[in-house]
Amino acid sequence: MIKIADNVSLKPYNTFGIEASCNHFVEINSVSDLNALLDSEVYKRNKHLIIGGGSNILLTKNFDGLVIKNNLKGIEVVREEGDDVFVKASAGEVWHEFVQWCIQRNLAGLENLSLIPGCVGASPMQNIGAYGVEIKDVFDCLEAIDLNDGTRKEFSKEVCNFGYRESVFKHELKNKFIIISVTFKLSKKINLNTSYGAINTELESMGVKQPGIKDVSQAVINIRSSKLPDPKVTGNAGSFFKNPEVELSEYDRIKSQFPNVVAYPLENGNYKLAAGWLIEQSGLKGYQAGNAAVHDKQALVLVNKGGAKGDEIYSLSEHVLQTVFAKFGVKLEREVNII
Ligand code: FAD
Ligand code: EPU
Repeated sequence: MIKIADNVSLKPYNTFGIEASCNHFVEINSVSDLNALLDSEVYKRNKHLIIGGGSNILLTKNFDGLVIKNNLKGIEVVREEGDDVFVKASAGEVWHEFVQWCIQRNLAGLENLSLIPGCVGASPMQNIGAYGVEIKDVFDCLEAIDLNDGTRKEFSKEVCNFGYRESVFKHELKNKFIIISVTFKLSKKINLNTSYGAINTELESMGVKQPGIKDVSQAVINIRSSKLPDPKVTGNAGSFFKNPEVELSEYDRIKSQFPNVVAYPLENGNYKLAAGWLIEQSGLKGYQAGNAAVHDKQALVLVNKGGAKGDEIYSLSEHVLQTVFAKFGVKLEREVNII
């Protein structure tokens, strides 16, 4: 049975803690709930917004439509092939709890992605990534329901077209499907990825000599907790902008003017610039405008200092974009989904 509520506050459903309402709100606990919803008049008459943990959205106004909160639960091992173990998680599973579930069973592959907020169903949307790993590295397939006709489709990695914070679901298939489960190819064989320097340093200071996946997970949790604001305390949606990719000639121009620029070479010959560095060097780290601010420990994160409106955060992001562009000639791109 689905219960559609009217005029609901979305404040508990977005990690920015923005007060905004929606006309209709429904929680989906099963695929049959979803089918019932797709048949309903409320669904047919309204535009919709799907949410999981609400940790990558900025609500700039009240949502004039139906919000669908995906609560589908369940984790299962679907098959094993040698050392490979295929684990399927339903979309409403909390991401970090799922990662812990895998670590407890000694299944490697997701440990670097510990403590990312949100739900499993949103993880393919922007191909979540951290500390040298993206989900595309361990992604097998996902199941989604076509919101037009209710049919179930399976998507392979190729079709998802993953890139840095990108997938087909942010572009051609935007708002067309609801993801109901994701299957990951994990491994019984431990092959740690500690290439991201800070992990090794953290493992050392933890006194760990022979790390396992639980140690790497703990190292990542420690590093993240030291610089990223906890949404339960301070509203935010993680990095507000992407790290921009520039061509070599553009990188050379910036480097000649700003020799300390933080940048990473990419396989295609381009460079990825650290947007947090660009923002900090623009004098904006800790900058506050009204109730919106640039986080004082990580300039790539915008925060709600208490009672901020979504458009206040958005205006701050515009100010950041313009200031960085004026100083470096680099155009930042927002990572957070603006609603
Ligand atoms: P939501 O915010 O609810 O939704 C995000 C988008 O996906 C929306 O467009 C929504 O419509 C769509 N969507 C959600 N669920 C579904 C579904 N089932 N089917 C179809 N569409 C759906 N991200 C990283 O990549 N790396 C990080 O290191 C990282 N660190 C973060 C740290 C903090 C403190 C915070 C607050 C956020 C961070 N994020 C990070 C961003 C965020 O956690 C991820 O993008 C996460 O995957 C969002 O999940 P969610 O369930 O909260 O998605
Ligand atoms: N930096 C600064 N000042 C700052 C912040 C960063 O100078 O205020 C420079 C430092 O040199 C630092 C470098 O930028 O070494 C990189 O910073 P950090 O390691 O914190 O990572 P990031 O590039 O800012 C990205 C992701 C994060 C992810 C981390 C770890 C994006 C947009 N962000 O941040 O993802 O957790 O790497 O892998 O790619 C998210 O997407 O929401 C998110 C938090």
